[in-house]
Amino acid sequence: MKKIGVLTSGGDAPGMNACIRAIVRYGISRGVEVTGIRGGYRGLLSKDVVRLGNRSVANIIQRGGTVLETARCDEMKTEEGIRKAHQTLKSEGIEGLITIGGDGTFRGAVALAEAGDVKVIGVPGTIDNDVYGTDYAVGFDTAVNTALDAIDKIRDTAGSMQRPFFVEVMGKSRGFLALEVGIAGGAEEILMPELPTKVEQLALDIRRSFKRGKKSSIIVVAEGDDAGSAFSIAQQVWERLRVEYRICVLGHVQRGGCPTARDRVLASKLGAAAVDALLEGKAGYMVGEFKGDIALTPLRDTWEKRKDLDSNSLRLVKALSG
Ligand code: F6P
Repeated sequence: MKKIGVLTSGGDAPGMNACIRAIVRYGISRGVEVTGIRGGYRGLLSKDVVRLGNRSVANIIQRGGTVLETARCDEMKTEEGIRKAHQTLKSEGIEGLITIGGDGTFRGAVALAEAGDVKVIGVPGTIDNDVYGTDYAVGFDTAVNTALDAIDKIRDTAGSMQRPFFVEVMGKSRGFLALEVGIAGGAEEILMPELPTKVEQLALDIRRSFKRGKKSSIIVVAEGDDAGSAFSIAQQVWERLRVEYRICVLGHVQRGGCPTARDRVLASKLGAAAVDALLEGKAGYMVGEFKGDIALTPLRDTWEKRKDLDSNSLRLVKALSG
């Protein structure tokens, strides 16, 4: 294989740049040319490509976002889109493609591989950490730490004014981010889509915790919770308790910022592993990491199989809320 391509697609995640850098530098060290595709699959359709060398990826390891830019591309779900993408790969001489992103990115990669002669390898890059086949996705650790920093600050004011705070975190339809952030931030309650939220019980728990002398109550709400948004849940609790509360939706702040050391190292290892996989003739896999070892998972499994929340963490939620 002489030439490979790399793109980032879907929601950006901190550490994507570290991954691009690793793919370029490791790829060059193994004798392949690397082409960057700008703006995700959209760039593949419009032939927005750039040759990447060692210098083009200098000083990006510490930067959030993605220098290649990203997009969600509906046209990739059409036959015409796939045809255009193949044309670009053919005319650019790209034999292998590394796609960094989440499940939407991998669906596009599979559609591409099934329709023609291109080898694809995925790298998990999403703050949601919701792809099967890896303990952690690139970007998750940074997002956890960003949200944690905010929660630590919120607790200062929550405790000083003795108000319950509903803090909404991202995570799409899964609770990985909420669970990790909630445990690390000592949240009194963690509401996740995986566990049914009983508002009646939640209100009782909040009342009891204040009666027990607690000064603050942090309720972490995953954006995909079955009882609704933080606004809706807070309102439902207010109707039962009539206690003044505040809401903080952390939103896209969680997607930005310098990647943590853990994310930079994970991104570097997975980027290099993706190049190795292509050069070994493997295709149709995502490279991930299980307990420190690189693992290849068929791309389709990454969204068809369900990744479970950590049961030990789940067990701790109630016990540690005191
Ligand atoms: O998948 C990453 C993510 O940040 C989710 O947590 C969130 O639901 C979604 O993307 C937001 O998407 P957008 O940036 O398109 O608003």
